[in-house]
Amino acid sequence: MEIREATLGDVEQIGNLMRSDGRRAYTKDLAIDLIENSQSLCLVLTENNQIVGSLGARGEGKNSCWLYYIIVKEEFRKKGHARELMKRFFDEARKIGAKRIALDTPEKEFFEKFGFKEVGRLPDWYEDMDQVIMYMTLG
Ligand SMILES: CC(C)(COP(=O)(O)OP(=O)(O)OC[C@H]1O[C@@H](n2cnc3c(N)ncnc32)[C@H](O)[C@@H]1OP(=O)(O)O)[C@@H](O)C(=O)NCCC(=O)NCCS
Repeated sequence: MEIREATLGDVEQIGNLMRSDGRRAYTKDLAIDLIENSQSLCLVLTENNQIVGSLGARGEGKNSCWLYYIIVKEEFRKKGHARELMKRFFDEARKIGAKRIALDTPEKEFFEKFGFKEVGRLPDWYEDMDQVIMYMTLG
C-alpha cells in the first residue's frame, strides 16, 4: 500500500472511483482542478499500482481547509485505508498551516471518528440521508 499525491495521469482512475459512489456528483474534473491548484491536495492510495482510494481537499482563506471527498473502492474497504488517507491529509494540512477543516457528508459517523463535529444539516439531501456539515480544529 502506498499513498502519494495524484498526477494528471491518475485522473481517469480517480474519476472511475468517484463514479462508483452513486451519491456523489464529483467527477475527474474536480481531481484535475485539485491537482493543478497549488493550494489543493489530491491523494491516491494504491495497492499493486492500482488506485483503490483517493482524497481531495483545498486550502481556503487564511488557515482553513475544505475536505471535498474521500473514497475507497468497495472491495478494499474496512482495512484501514481511509484512516491512512485521513492521517496523511492531516499531516499535509498542518504543513500548509491549516487550523480549521470543514466538509459536508452523509457519513457523519465516519468523520466523528476523526474528531469532526456536526455544525449543520441539510435534511433529506440525498433520497434517504441528510447532508451533514462538519467542522474540526487541527491540534
Ligand atoms: C467512508 C469510507 C471512505 C471508509 O473507508 P474504509 O477504508 O472502509 O475505512 P477504514 O477501514 O479506514 O475505517 C476507519 C474507521 O472508520 C470506520 N468506518 C468505516 N466506514 C464507516 C462508515 N461508513 N460509517 C461509520 N464508520 C465507518 C471503521 O470502522 C474504522 O473505525 P475504527 O478505526 O475505530 O475501527 C468508504 O466506506 C467509502 O469510500 N464510502 C463511499 C464514499 C463516502 O461516503 N465517502 C465519505 C463522504 S465524502
